[in-house]
Amino acid sequence: MKAAVLTAYGSANNIKIKEVPDPIPENNELLIKIHTCTVSAADCEVRRFDIQPLFWLPLRLMTGLFKPRKNKILGQEFAGEVIAVGAGVRHFRIGDLVFGSGGIQMGCQAEYKCKNEITGIIHKPPGITFEEAVTIPLGGLNALHYLRKANITSNDRVLIIGAGGSIGTYAVQLASKTGAHITVVESGEKLEMLKAIGANKVIDYKKEDFWLSKTKYDVIFDVSVKTGYSKCISALATNGRYIPADYSLSLLLRGFMTTLFTSNKVIITLAGDKNEDLLEVAKLIENKNIKPVIGKTFSLEEIPEANRQIEKGLKQGSFVVRVS
Ligand SMILES: NC(=O)c1ccc[n+]([C@@H]2O[C@H](COP(=O)([O-])OP(=O)(O)OC[C@H]3O[C@@H](n4cnc5c(N)ncnc54)[C@H](OP(=O)(O)O)[C@@H]3O)[C@@H](O)[C@H]2O)c1
Repeated sequence: MKAAVLTAYGSANNIKIKEVPDPIPENNELLIKIHTCTVSAADCEVRRFDIQPLFWLPLRLMTGLFKPRKNKILGQEFAGEVIAVGAGVRHFRIGDLVFGSGGIQMGCQAEYKCKNEITGIIHKPPGITFEEAVTIPLGGLNALHYLRKANITSNDRVLIIGAGGSIGTYAVQLASKTGAHITVVESGEKLEMLKAIGANKVIDYKKEDFWLSKTKYDVIFDVSVKTGYSKCISALATNGRYIPADYSLSLLLRGFMTTLFTSNKVIITLAGDKNEDLLEVAKLIENKNIKPVIGKTFSLEEIPEANRQIEKGLKQGSFVVRVS
């Protein structure tokens, strides 16, 4: 099969489109012909091995200390068709249309992928396209998970930092459904798009420091986690909640202290790959309550270029790859 293979950690030029052996499903696995996959910020971070110290060594030992040896095909999300099933598979049949998450092994930027049938995979509802479905496992699920934890009410002032990407564009739409007042922090052309999908106020982080304003927020969902902990905490109202989408050991410790000694709460959590969450987001799309933001579509051969565009800050919403 054809796949985007990471030949060395580092630049996007290290991704080569190559022929590799077709995967063979084990007893409890499905073989999926991939129709669409995505290229995400997380793919670029794994490629550069831009991984925070807490996880750096364990992950490097897992994937290859000096060069990638395992998980050489990146891509966290897939949508496609089941073309073979192992003898132990109970819930899927050949011909089923599915979508889901590649999990920690990734491997979705390819023509075929094997996947267990237990978690991180569901049938694609007929009312959504392969392009839409493939944006759900990363952006949709993370936004749903973190915003549930935030417990937003219609009286809340919500700030979403880094709102223009995969997770943020879902978060803005989900948060605006609560009736809360939504302010987003982003830059450039993404600001107009964010107004169109539900942001009440936009702040360009290249021109304005939100933490210097008098406005305080009940909920800060920090998707990009680049502003700095103290600045975000200083922008919280009394009894505010700060929810980072990523964290370091230092953030964990500081978050614990803030929660223990102040009225504010730092919520540190990870979204899983729950099938019921995949379905919940898919149904919201099918029922036209929300709409995935697809910045651009690419071919499999254009995956290195999609990586470069992400690193230039050119991605709005999700970047979708049409594999077949
Ligand atoms: N993969 C996962 O399952 C998963 C789960 C949880 C968290 N995460 C992490 O969460 C982060 C966001 O994920 P994503 O996929 O939504 O990324 P994304 O699509 O790149 O979106 C992040 C957005 O933040 C913007 N940004 C960068 N610096 C900023 C700043 N100082 N202030 C405000 N906005 C800023 C970026 O814009 P510009 O680049 O144009 O500045 C970009 O639009 C990533 O680091 C990812 O690893 C990933």
